[in-house]
Amino acid sequence: MTERNNWLITETRFHPAALHHKETVFTIGNGYLGTRGTFEEGYPGDRPATFVHGLFDAAPLVNTELVNAPNWLPFVPVINGERFRMDRGTLLSYRRELHLRNGLLKRTVCWRSPAGHTVELRIERFASLADRHLLAIRCRIIPLDFDGILELRAGLDGHALNPECFHWHLEDQGACGEHTVYLHMRTRHSGIALCEACHLTVSGGEEMNWTHLDCDAAPAIVASLKVRAGEPVSADKLVSLVTSREAGDVVSTALSLLEGARTRGYDGLLQASTEAWAQEWDVCDITIEGDDQADQALRYNLFQLLIAAPRHDDRASIPAKALSGFGYRGHVFWDTEIFMLPFFTFMRPELARNMLMYRYHTLPGARRKAQEQGYAGAMFAWESADTGDETTPRFVPGPNGQLVRIWTGDIEHHITADVAYAIVQYWQATGDDAFMRDYGAEIVLDTARFWGSRVEWNQARAQYEINDVIGPDEYHEHVNNNAFTNRMAQWNLENALDILAWLRLTCPDKAAELETRLELTEEQLSHWRRIIGNLYIPRHNATSLLEQFDGFFALGDINLADYEPRTVSMQALLGIEGVQQYQVLKQPDVLMLLYLLREEYDIAALRENWAYYAPRTDITYGSSLGPAIHALLAARLGEVDQAYHYFMHAARTDLDDTRGNAADGIHAATAGGLWQAVVFGFAGLRMKGNGYTLAPHLPPHWRKLAFTFYHRGKRAYVSLPDDETQG
Ligand code: BGC
Repeated sequence: MTERNNWLITETRFHPAALHHKETVFTIGNGYLGTRGTFEEGYPGDRPATFVHGLFDAAPLVNTELVNAPNWLPFVPVINGERFRMDRGTLLSYRRELHLRNGLLKRTVCWRSPAGHTVELRIERFASLADRHLLAIRCRIIPLDFDGILELRAGLDGHALNPECFHWHLEDQGACGEHTVYLHMRTRHSGIALCEACHLTVSGGEEMNWTHLDCDAAPAIVASLKVRAGEPVSADKLVSLVTSREAGDVVSTALSLLEGARTRGYDGLLQASTEAWAQEWDVCDITIEGDDQADQALRYNLFQLLIAAPRHDDRASIPAKALSGFGYRGHVFWDTEIFMLPFFTFMRPELARNMLMYRYHTLPGARRKAQEQGYAGAMFAWESADTGDETTPRFVPGPNGQLVRIWTGDIEHHITADVAYAIVQYWQATGDDAFMRDYGAEIVLDTARFWGSRVEWNQARAQYEINDVIGPDEYHEHVNNNAFTNRMAQWNLENALDILAWLRLTCPDKAAELETRLELTEEQLSHWRRIIGNLYIPRHNATSLLEQFDGFFALGDINLADYEPRTVSMQALLGIEGVQQYQVLKQPDVLMLLYLLREEYDIAALRENWAYYAPRTDITYGSSLGPAIHALLAARLGEVDQAYHYFMHAARTDLDDTRGNAADGIHAATAGGLWQAVVFGFAGLRMKGNGYTLAPHLPPHWRKLAFTFYHRGKRAYVSLPDDETQG
């Protein structure tokens, strides 16, 4: 199949020095697991990893982390006794392609071994989107200039490390006939069992014998063949992977799934997966005509979101680095609700619902956190894993090896309102009343209870306040009255009252049940109303310029241009303490608020705050969450050139490793922010009751921008610039 370039991510050189970055870029997955783009034959220093949703285990310092599952990739051709290795011998040609259309990762190589035997290899792999437990590798080898012996080793490797920890102990391993081996492991603390089983078939060549390598926790199948110049050999390695989160007996389940996969064969599995992808793209694709780079990069980012979203599991959510790397240990942040979720809410509401259900299931952890800190209700963890308990490390090693205290887990409280915000946004966009009645309302009400207990009364000011927090701009710690936090808390309380009123009307039994269980007395509700009417939000005199927090305007001013050229963040430059003395932001804070509550802040307010805060934001080297939001806001303000500049900066974050940390995994919040920048920024989509409006600000060279979305169960089609601006 020849593929249009915008659907392909291509690499034409083998980059041993950028191994880890490229492993991230070529991550594949299927919403159940993600596998980094490590080469099948393995290289010294490579970082193979497969992450399965929900597969957590306790870890020192970081509390708990997503476990690196046994590596299912190992596939090593040995040519006349020489192991295929692109860093030895001569690499005559090389090309790797990620096919975004169906998630197939393909490599074509021509390689001459040190002894002078030349082979052409084509190796491809995919994780089936049609059957989450199935993975497959196909390798075709042509000996070009020799007759000889080809050995193919296909195995499973249980020596899968996390950066500081090994999480597994071996339960069992074995073989079932000549062509199949399996590996049965269990995590050390959480006790989750996992089984991988693999099956190898070969066609072409003259079969000599089949054996097994039974190394500890690394079983493999070895096929030896006589091969002749010019005659291709093809091998299929099919793998099944199951954990005790889905099955009682993981070994027999994995083996029977593998048996089913064998009957369908590689082609059958690929076809089913390709069909599943076609349905996915039918809904989720966005086309940008006139700008191949933007079109391709956006599609790549959406692909990464689609492979990371839990499809069959409502007890998992997308971690900050998706399922593609060790960064942030698989923990879930506000990145999911505020940056990624809108894409799913409007394109794949079923998947958005799964991720919101994850917050419902982790309410017990959120309640424990509130209680431990002396508050009522539910207070979501800044970093969340399987139980919802706080998993932010209290200390991390700093640049000089000293331990740095991390405060976000203690005082970055806005996450609690962010979760409520995502629930209400989902409800409004989908009209999923059943979700709101059965689950969402409980979250919004219990988070409101938290805020009710969190505020403090300031007698001198005669207003409520929220003190000692970190807002979205994490350069400033322990601040009072962060405008974002205060207004979002107030919004959380307002929506709790509205939802309770709706529930009383539409489902009085449920309302009564929640009122009793969450102790929503009249006194509590009046307390909420008083806070709503009287919560302090700092602003400059009587203007619409918000003050990021108490005393922000009195901090030293800074001209970021004076620090150019630089390659590090302002925090790295000025130090953790130093940066707090200045009006410099890691990422949008007040502007983020104005974006989220865009229905209530008009364009004049946005312009005024943009003029103040945008030049003070460390947009290039601060948080990767910033550029897509700046793109969106600049587009809304009609500053299309600036918007496009930020947009492309965000779009290339992982493909070009612009921040130098793509090795740690995909910047999933950036991916979600890009979708929002296109749809809510460049296209200017706004929901209005049962319809919508568009206020496009397209970059002039975009000939066409086309996408679809769901609104209250109905599918809408947008094609700009020709569309009417109403739907
Ligand atoms: C950002 C946070 C974000 C976290 C995980 C931090 O650097 O400041 O806003 O949630 O990274 O992506």
